[in-house]
Amino acid sequence: MSTINLQNQRVLSGMRPSGKLHLGHYHGVLKNWARLQHEHECFFFVADWHVLTTHYDNPQIIEESVWDMVIDWLAAGVNPGSSTMFIQSKVPEHAELHLLLSMLTPLSWLERAPTYKEQQEKLKDKDLSTYGFLGYPLLQTADILAYKAGAVPVGLDQVPHVEMSREIARRFNHYYGREPGFEKKAEDAIKKLGKKNAKLYNNLRRDYVQEGNEDALAQAHAMVESHSSISLGDKERLIGYLDGGGKIILPEPQALLTPVSKMPGLDGQKMSKSYNNVIEMRESADQVEKKIKTMQTDPARVRLTDPGDPDKCPVWQLHEVYSADDVKSWVKKGCTTAGIGCLECKQPLIDCVIKETTEFRENAKEYEENPELVRNIIAEGSDKARDIAKETMEDVREAMGLSYR
Ligand code: TRP
Ligand code: SF4
Repeated sequence: MSTINLQNQRVLSGMRPSGKLHLGHYHGVLKNWARLQHEHECFFFVADWHVLTTHYDNPQIIEESVWDMVIDWLAAGVNPGSSTMFIQSKVPEHAELHLLLSMLTPLSWLERAPTYKEQQEKLKDKDLSTYGFLGYPLLQTADILAYKAGAVPVGLDQVPHVEMSREIARRFNHYYGREPGFEKKAEDAIKKLGKKNAKLYNNLRRDYVQEGNEDALAQAHAMVESHSSISLGDKERLIGYLDGGGKIILPEPQALLTPVSKMPGLDGQKMSKSYNNVIEMRESADQVEKKIKTMQTDPARVRLTDPGDPDKCPVWQLHEVYSADDVKSWVKKGCTTAGIGCLECKQPLIDCVIKETTEFRENAKEYEENPELVRNIIAEGSDKARDIAKETMEDVREAMGLSYR
């Protein structure tokens, strides 16, 4: 199960709007999204409701953050021609699914989520003993399952949430995957296979159920899939009947662990707004220069003639992200032998970062000048997302017996 076959999988990920993004977001997340969009059907969305779980006391900050963030996505090369970008609150189906899933979600699963206690500890000045905050991972589950996404690119801290969405999907399928009269309907479907194939199906099913013969299971799957004259519903029943389960209504997603980015901030800690050590994606050249020039270096290098140790210097960590091997050896040698000064050492970095941020600023320009463009991209994306979420909700309502009229 651990090897993920990503082919043909729908990819979905979300980000809470936190305003202008920084280089840590670019190297840690957006670069990856921009790559995935060329390999998969991708959905990326602004998790604005998730912000409300912690910022319900000042929701006014959300709107500006949403648009700043989307412009940064676009500047990073996430492209509306290759992926669907939307806003969570524009697809109310997420809320309906959240509500329906809440009926079958044990409280203990939510209380056990590591982020629940952790965030409450961390944000002590806020009252997070709310219903909405407890439901944070369940809302995330609804985000994912509404699209029947197969792969969810996230950082390590979010893996338990994706795991929870797997457990909830499994629980859902267990309760509702079996339509009333399932066995009878499956037996009827077998007859529709024709005499020869029905016999084959029964034999293969017995081999799998009684002997655990995986080959038999695979063979039966293939036979059912390739059968040309039975309905899709019957195919699903026949496949569900093979392993004793019912229909899979909500498939279990997999976390797609984002390659770890060791993007350091200006002080060598992880780049993060709360550490006040960031370079924004659209930072001006002057600011980039100033920020890097005033970065701390190895404290042992007081004078130019004191040799330094790159391993004790946050500037070196930035070289690890940006510099080619020849520059890195120049730094190592120059630093440890006091052959170069710290300002000299910083210059190639300043050049690289200015090049990168200049490109982002240039990409962002047309969107900054024409906000309607961004609104349209999101409106179109939200419509497209909604069409899919609506289909899922029809399946969900039907499975839960709510499709009466
Ligand atoms: N909780 C995620 C984070 O803080 C954001 C998020 C919300 C998300 N819904 C999601 C990520 C669905 C992936 C899939 O980063
Ligand atoms: Fe850091 Fe470079 Fe100065 Fe060495 S020379 S201490 S790596 S800035």
